[in-house]
Amino acid sequence: MFVSDNLNVNGSGHLTIGGIDTVALAEEYGTPLYVMDEDLIRDNLRRFHESIEKYYGGRGEVHFAGKAFSCMEMCRIVNSEGDGLDAVSLGELYTALKAGFPMEKIGFHGNNKSDEELAFAVEHGVGHIIVDNISELHRLEKIAAEKGVQQKIMFRIKPGIDAHTHKAVMTGQIDSKFGFALETGEAFEAVKEAVSCVNVKLTGLHCHIGSQIFDIFPFEEAAKVMLRFIAKIRDELGYTVTELNLGGGFGIKYLESHDPAPFEEYMERVSAAVKSECEALGLEQPFIYIEPGRSIVASAGITLYKVGARKEIPGIRTYISIDGGMCDNPRYILYQSEYEAVVANKAGEARSEKVTIAGRCCESGDLIGENMPLQHAESGDIIAVLATGAYNYSMASNYNRLQKPAVVMVKDGNSRIAVKRESLEDIIKNDI
Ligand code: LLP
Repeated sequence: MFVSDNLNVNGSGHLTIGGIDTVALAEEYGTPLYVMDEDLIRDNLRRFHESIEKYYGGRGEVHFAGKAFSCMEMCRIVNSEGDGLDAVSLGELYTALKAGFPMEKIGFHGNNKSDEELAFAVEHGVGHIIVDNISELHRLEKIAAEKGVQQKIMFRIKPGIDAHTHKAVMTGQIDSKFGFALETGEAFEAVKEAVSCVNVKLTGLHCHIGSQIFDIFPFEEAAKVMLRFIAKIRDELGYTVTELNLGGGFGIKYLESHDPAPFEEYMERVSAAVKSECEALGLEQPFIYIEPGRSIVASAGITLYKVGARKEIPGIRTYISIDGGMCDNPRYILYQSEYEAVVANKAGEARSEKVTIAGRCCESGDLIGENMPLQHAESGDIIAVLATGAYNYSMASNYNRLQKPAVVMVKDGNSRIAVKRESLEDIIKNDI
């Protein structure tokens, strides 16, 4: 009935998430409110790591991409499932550290890591630093030497696969701020340098070909390109790269019309591609890392808002204004991303209108969506926007000095706060 299977309608006609009445959640915790279904998060993590067991003999790790949703409670959940993390900043590393996350299970990313960040990562024993460029390699070698350690690294490679054309062609996509290009020889030169470094050890290669990708073919192609490069390194430098990180990017269902492949199919097909390419190249099958972000948390989350004004502009459109907007969900204004919405207290009724859901920020583009099918919504109703668990809380801002909403986790019929709602004091806490 809804885009995410964990949503339902109860006897009062209210929307439920993980079996809990969302109208009651809005009453108890206030709005706007992010609600995350912990069981679904865990289930998604398990589906990925069990598919590595099933199709690749368990020789791999799932690293949840924290940029999709990072907070201490999420780090604890990922850790308790035995999975790793992809972190991209000191803030994400610090969050993990404070949550007691095992730092050796973190891959540290970023195209412009500072010395402070690199030093922090080395000092706290981060498993791999995914080196993006040659200056970073030089700086990291120096920092690791000062600390007297040998830091494991991977290189971020641009495999030249355009995953968004549905053709997965080799586009020679070298115009990206991330990573080393293959076809210019940049990546190979960097590998040559890295293999002679003393305080960094190149153990793996990494690629990430995009996000919200429905098709599995580009992932298979990327894996093959990376393996051919590993073979070239072996052939020309006599050096063995043992790990392959294939990034994230698996698509999820935001709208009924979306039809992503099941996560299991991804690992099944990519494992098969890795195995056959390794055989053809005479390579040992590498240890594999995958970094799903959106696919772990997006469907597990909804955002609850209260309706303020209803504004009908005859012949043009109806605006339904809510008490949040681009400050807690900037994805429409940034990418025109589409969502489904439901009036949570009328969830059993038909979505008989088409409306524009408008945020409360002083900005005309501050919308959650246009032409959205919705039940008749009036002031005081609760609106749930669905599949907002990824890149909503993590991309929220304090524009207009709005306070960021709380994050509530639901599990086994209970709810609890994972992140507190910001207070007015939080808003001014750094002001002098
Ligand atoms: N690994 C790396 C190196 C990445 O750059 C990303 C996402 C991921 C993993 C996780 O990708 P996912 O499985 O979540 O697609 N803010 C945008 C998405 C940006 C993704 C950036 N990198 C959005 O809201 O759609």
